[in-house]
Amino acid sequence: MKQQIVKLLAGMASLGIALGAASVQASPEQDRQDLIQYYTAKYPNIKIEDYVYGTLAFDTDSKARAQYDTIMQTPPYQAVLEKGKKMWDTPLRNGKTYADCLPNGGRNIAGNYPYFDEKAGRVVTLADAINACRVAAGEAAYKLGDAATMGTLTAYMRTLSDGMLMNIKVEGPKALAAYEDGKKTFFSRAGQLNFSCATCHVQNAGLRLGSELISPAVGQAVHWPVFHGGDSLMQLQTRYANCFKDMRHVSAPVGSAKLNNLEYFHSYLSNGLPTKASVFRK
Ligand code: HEC
Repeated sequence: MKQQIVKLLAGMASLGIALGAASVQASPEQDRQDLIQYYTAKYPNIKIEDYVYGTLAFDTDSKARAQYDTIMQTPPYQAVLEKGKKMWDTPLRNGKTYADCLPNGGRNIAGNYPYFDEKAGRVVTLADAINACRVAAGEAAYKLGDAATMGTLTAYMRTLSDGMLMNIKVEGPKALAAYEDGKKTFFSRAGQLNFSCATCHVQNAGLRLGSELISPAVGQAVHWPVFHGGDSLMQLQTRYANCFKDMRHVSAPVGSAKLNNLEYFHSYLSNGLPTKASVFRK
């Protein structure tokens, strides 16, 4: 136990978070490297590339990964992706498609989101960019986090970027402030349990919480939305909200600056890992 606490403090200190080190601001790249170092010191046999599989990378039951691969060959949520493709292909009210509106025809771009928009002075998620297309075309914005609309559309749209490496950029003081805000949310303890995201997804990654294995934060942002159980779709910020609930803490709303900044920080941690939409989760 003592050893665990020492390790935990060492990990936190190197991340520049605790122990009075908060004034020493690490760069995003330093944060990412520190986290990777923390995980690889603890789990030297697991490759960072495998972290995209979440808990499966840490599952000692060798059948779990084989089962996952089988399910992914004929995903039970194929019908949802087809619905998303129809939405993607259907012209908006001004006759334009999403492909006309988004950079690069919407292909190989998911790994660039979220990004910091200097003009708007805020983090823009892929869902925001899609809604901006809708509004510019005279359509109503989709409700962020809604599985039937934004979730279904992005489940297909993101497949057009499969294999693209996550490529989040933090450039300039305002972008860095948004990143730091997200980082603060990730490391701040809150709620009745006094947990932070890091309590589970850093210090306890690879361990079990009751019956559930806990995945590492690196690799978590590359594969959204996920489908739970079969075709139950969940988007990334909805997952954040659910984890806040597990912390017995009230989540900021999906699409709020707080969750957007968290997504910005959290996505940066997965830089260099390939995106893949969508994946099956238990
Ligand atoms: C009490 C422990 C706990 C805390 C605290 C917690 N989570 Fe989780 N989280 C889990 C468990 C358990 C799962 C499901 C298993 C898994 O994938 O790790 C999960 C899943 C996730 C996933 C999905 C991973 C995937 O590949 O499907 C993301 C993303 C995530 N959490 C982010 C966060 C963020 C951000 C916070 C802080 C707001 C947070 N979690 C706080 C326990 C926790």
